[in-house]
Amino acid sequence: MVKAFALCEGFLFLPMNKTEIIKQTILFVKETLAGAEGGHDWFHIERVWKNALLIAANEPVDLFVVELGALLHDIADAKFHHGDENIAPKKAEKFLTSLKVNPSTIDHVVNIIKNISYKNSLDGKPKFKSLELNVVQDADRLDAIGAIGIARAFNYGGFKNRELYNPNILPTEHLSKQTYKNSTAPTINHFYEKLLLLKDSMNTVSGKKIANKRHQFMELYLEQFFQEWNGKL
Ligand code: ADP
Ligand code: NI
Repeated sequence: MVKAFALCEGFLFLPMNKTEIIKQTILFVKETLAGAEGGHDWFHIERVWKNALLIAANEPVDLFVVELGALLHDIADAKFHHGDENIAPKKAEKFLTSLKVNPSTIDHVVNIIKNISYKNSLDGKPKFKSLELNVVQDADRLDAIGAIGIARAFNYGGFKNRELYNPNILPTEHLSKQTYKNSTAPTINHFYEKLLLLKDSMNTVSGKKIANKRHQFMELYLEQFFQEWNGKL
């Protein structure tokens, strides 16, 4: 009886293998993001995860860190949490610690979450750099452009009750994170203020290649948008 209990206890304290940790992480993310805005929901995470695996195939990275970073990168986007940027890294750290993931992996994943954001890159030099961050950041940026990027931008614009386009409000160049965050401009402006700039900020060769293709599609889309806006064709 005592032996069985000890065995059982021993089993409970065995560290989980990586596949099991990824499985648990998927469940955690799905549960946490239930009901999220359509552009920042589980399916965004799933696409970023897939993009990250695709890009990582050509990079000498720790795949486990890349996967965890991709899965947890939007666990509590500050936009939907009163601007609080600490919730996501804290939540991820607590979760990974509960699964007994090794501390250096946790530290790396937390740094990816803290440094992935486009708006944070507007404020000076990055505080943390790694190949794994490069991969996850490219994967996230790819989901912000192309056909999916267009859908996400208009969904977010609708969520925020923004105008589609207003010829009287010109796009502005956001030189700081603060002006970017405070913008309430029409959704079309977001293309000129962020989405069309992303292809030149890609970190990896394979990320750049996919970004160029998606960029061309957005250019085509905008051309058609303005044709229709102006009553042509
Ligand atoms: P990050 O989290 O990388 O700093 P954002 O929060 O600015 O990036 O944007 C994430 C995604 O949310 C964008 O790629 C876009 O789809 C949508 N989004 C954010 N801000 C706007 C906006 N002002 N208009 C339309 N879409 C937006
Ligand atoms: Ni994201």
